[in-house]
Amino acid sequence: MNQPLILDGKKVAESVYQKLLLEVSLLSFVPRIVFLRVGEDPASQSYVRSKEKRCLELGLRGETIVFAEFVSEDELIDKILTLNRDKDVNGILVQLPLPKHMDKAKVLRSIDPLKDVDGLHPENAGLLLQGKPRFIPCTPIGIVEMLKFYQIPIEGKRVIVMGRSEIVGRPMAQLFLNYNATVTVCHSKTQNLKEELQRAEVLVVAIGKTQFVKADMISPGVTIIDVGINRVDGKIVGDVDFDSVSSKAAAISPVPGGVGPMTIAMLMKNLSLAATLQSQKN
Ligand code: GUN
Repeated sequence: MNQPLILDGKKVAESVYQKLLLEVSLLSFVPRIVFLRVGEDPASQSYVRSKEKRCLELGLRGETIVFAEFVSEDELIDKILTLNRDKDVNGILVQLPLPKHMDKAKVLRSIDPLKDVDGLHPENAGLLLQGKPRFIPCTPIGIVEMLKFYQIPIEGKRVIVMGRSEIVGRPMAQLFLNYNATVTVCHSKTQNLKEELQRAEVLVVAIGKTQFVKADMISPGVTIIDVGINRVDGKIVGDVDFDSVSSKAAAISPVPGGVGPMTIAMLMKNLSLAATLQSQKN
C-alpha cells in the first residue's frame, strides 16, 4: 500500500529556528512581543501559552496580558494604543476569537501595522494582496515554508484552498497566487465540491470540520495540508481523515505535528522581522 510522505512540521520548525537564532543575534536588542488574550477560552489559553513558551526557549521576550471576558472594546484598544507607543514593544498579537461584543476589525485596525506580527491589519493584508507583502499571516506562510522544505513545487500547480477565513483561507490563496500557482478557493457554498477537489495537485484544508476530507474526494498523488485543529474525545484531529486519504495522497501534514508548529515558528520569524524593521526606522 502507498505510504505518503509525512510533512513533519516540528522538523521544519526546528530548521526555521536555527536560522532565526542567527538573525536575532545580529540585532542590538532582544525582540519583545506582547500577547493580548480576552476571556478564558481553553484553546486560546493553550495557544498563547505555547507561543510564550517558544519565545522563552529562543531567548526572546514574550508576555501575556489577560483581560476579563466582559472587558470593553475601548479598554482593549487603549491598551493596544499604549503598546503601539512603547518603543520597547516590537510585536503585538491579539489572540482570536474575541468575545462577541467586540468589533474584531476595529480592534485589529488599532494595532500599529509595523507591530502587527499576525499580518491581520488591513495595511498588511493589502500589501499581500498587491504582491508586496510585509507581515504575512503565520499559518499560510508556514505552509509555504513547509512545501519549500520538502521541495514540493507550487509554481504553475493547481492548488485548492478549502476555506475562506481572514486568517487562513484568504491570505493562503493570495500567497499561492504570489508564487504563481493556479488557485481555486472552495467553501461551504461551492457546488460539485468533489469534482473541484479532485483537480487539486496541492490541497489545503482549513474548514474546521472534523475529518471532512476522505479518500473518495481526492486524486492519487495529491499533496494535502491539513490546517484543522478539532478536539474530539480529548484528542486533536484534523479536517482530513488521515487514515482514509493515506493510501492515495503523495504527501500529507499530520495533526498534530504538521501545520501547528509551523504557525508558531512563523510568528517568531515575523517578530524578528518587526524588530528589524523598527530598528531600521529609528
Ligand atoms: N486564533 C487561532 N489562531 C490564531 C492566530 O494565528 N492568531 C491569532 N491572533 N489568533 C488565533
